Amino acid sequence: ARKERLVVVSNRLPFILAKGEDGEWRITPGAGGLVTALLPVLRDRGGVWIGWPGAHANVEEVRHAFTSSEAGYTLVPVVLTPEEVHKFYQGFSNEIIWPLFHDLQSHCNFDPSYWRVYQEVNRKFARAVLDESQPGDFIWVHDYQLINVAAELRGRGVSSRIGFFLHTPFPSLDIYLKLPWRFQLLRALLEYDVIGFQTLRDRRNFIQCVRALVKDAGIHGKGQVMLARMNGREVRLGVFPISIDYDAYAREAGSPAIAEKGAQLRQLLPNRQLILGVDRLDYTKAIPDRLEAFGAALARYPELHQRVTLIQVVVPSREDIPRYHELRTRIEQIVGRINGRFTQPGGWVPIHYVFQNLSRKELIAYYRAAQIALVTPLKDGMNLVAKEYCACSTDEDSVLILSEFAGAAAQLQHWALLVNPYDIEGTAEAIVAAFRMPLDERRWRMRRMRRSIRTYDVFWWVDAFLRAAIEKDLSAFPLM
Ligand code: UDP
Ligand code: G6P
Repeated sequence: ARKERLVVVSNRLPFILAKGEDGEWRITPGAGGLVTALLPVLRDRGGVWIGWPGAHANVEEVRHAFTSSEAGYTLVPVVLTPEEVHKFYQGFSNEIIWPLFHDLQSHCNFDPSYWRVYQEVNRKFARAVLDESQPGDFIWVHDYQLINVAAELRGRGVSSRIGFFLHTPFPSLDIYLKLPWRFQLLRALLEYDVIGFQTLRDRRNFIQCVRALVKDAGIHGKGQVMLARMNGREVRLGVFPISIDYDAYAREAGSPAIAEKGAQLRQLLPNRQLILGVDRLDYTKAIPDRLEAFGAALARYPELHQRVTLIQVVVPSREDIPRYHELRTRIEQIVGRINGRFTQPGGWVPIHYVFQNLSRKELIAYYRAAQIALVTPLKDGMNLVAKEYCACSTDEDSVLILSEFAGAAAQLQHWALLVNPYDIEGTAEAIVAAFRMPLDERRWRMRRMRRSIRTYDVFWWVDAFLRAAIEKDLSAFPLM
C-alpha cells in the first residue's frame, strides 16, 4: 500500500521538557491516552510529530535540549509563552472545551480572552506545519486543543488533505449550543477533509450540531464513513475507536520480570483480591464517586473486609487549573475518611493511594497483579486504561468494571460489568459481584474482551483512518 509521510500535530508531545534545579534540561514521558496511542504509530511508520514540549522556554533553548530525532521519526517543538499556556492550554482548551465536551457545562469558564489566544496559538501551530511539511504529506491534527489548524492552513493556501481525530467525546446539541464560539468551531472543523470520532454516538452528536447550525451543509451516506457536503466541498465523517499496541502490552505483561513484580505485589497483600484504579487527576474520571462506591461496598458487605484492597493510582495532571487542584484535596480527604473508618491497626488498609506518574513497567505490574479494575469515568472519549488492563490480564482471570459512559463501553459492553458512575450503590453492587464472580465466568468475559482489543488494535485504527481519507468508494467501510 502507498504510504504518504505522516505529519502528526498535537498539543502534547510524547516527552515533557523541564529544567531541573541544577539548570539542566530533563525529559520525562508525557501522560495520557493520546500519547500512548500515537507513540507506537510514529515508531512504526515514521514521520514528523509537531507539538508543545510542555516547558516555558525560548525556542533556541528547547531546540537545543531536544534531540530532535527519536527512533525513526522527528519531533518538532512548538514553544508557548506563559500567557499562551495560561489562556490557550489551561484556559480555552481545559476550562472550556474539555469540560463542555464531557457534558460538564458547570465547570466551564467562558472567559472571552481565552478565545483570542486559542486562535493565535492555533495559527502558531499552523505555521509550524507549513515550515515542516512538504506537498504530498498527510497532515493529521489531533484533539480539541487544535481545532482551528486546518482553517489557518486553508487561509494560507494549503489544499492538501488534512485529517482530524477527536480523542474526547463530542457533546449533544443542547450542550454544544452553550459555547459562545459554536459557529466558529464548527466551521473550523468542516475545513478538514476527514474527521474521526471515537464512537457512533459522538458522530451522531456532531451531525446534529451541523444540521442545526450550518444551513448549507448536507449529510449523506451511512456506515463507518459518512459525508458532509457544503459549497462543493466534502468532509468525511468516520467512526474509529482508538486503541493500544495490544501485542506490546500482552508481551510485556507475560514477561518473567513483570510476573515476578506482580507476584511480589500479591505477596505484600496476601489472601485478598486487588482492585485497581488508574486515572489522570481529572474530574471526568469520577475518582471521588468511585471511592465512595468502594466505601459503600465495605459498609454493606463485611465479607469484603480484609479480603479486598483498592490501589488507586492518580497521575498528576493540569494542577495549575484550580478545579484540578481542588480535586486532589478532595480525593485525599475521602481516602483518609474511608481508611480511617475501616483500617485495622497493624493489618488491613483498604485503600492504597499512589499519586505518581508510574513507569510503564510498574503500571503493567499493577495491571497484571490486580484481579479487578475499576474504570468508572463520568464520560470519556475512549479510556485506554480499560484496554491496557485487559491486554495485560494474561491469566484471563480478572474482571473489568466499566462506566457505560466511556467510549470503550461501545466495544466491551457485553463482557465488562457496566456501571453508571453516578449511581454509587449500583457501583458498590458491581464491586461485590466482581469479587464473587466465579473463575469460568471471569475467563469467558476476559477472553472475549482481549480478542476484540487484539483485532481492533492501534494499527487497525491508524489504517482505518488513513484509508477513509483516501478511499474513493465509501461503501468499502462497513461498520465494525
Ligand atoms: N498512564 C500514564 N502514566 C501513569 C499511568 C497511566 O501515562 O502513571 C497512561 C495509561 O497507560 C494510559 C493513559 O495514561 O495510556 C490514560 O489514557 P486514558 O485514555 O485512559 O485517559 P486520558 O488520561 O487520556 O484521559
Ligand atoms: C486527554 C486528552 C489529550 C491529552 C491528555 C493528557 O487524553 O484527550 O489531548 O494530551 O488527556 O492531558 P494533558 O493536558 O497533560 O495533555
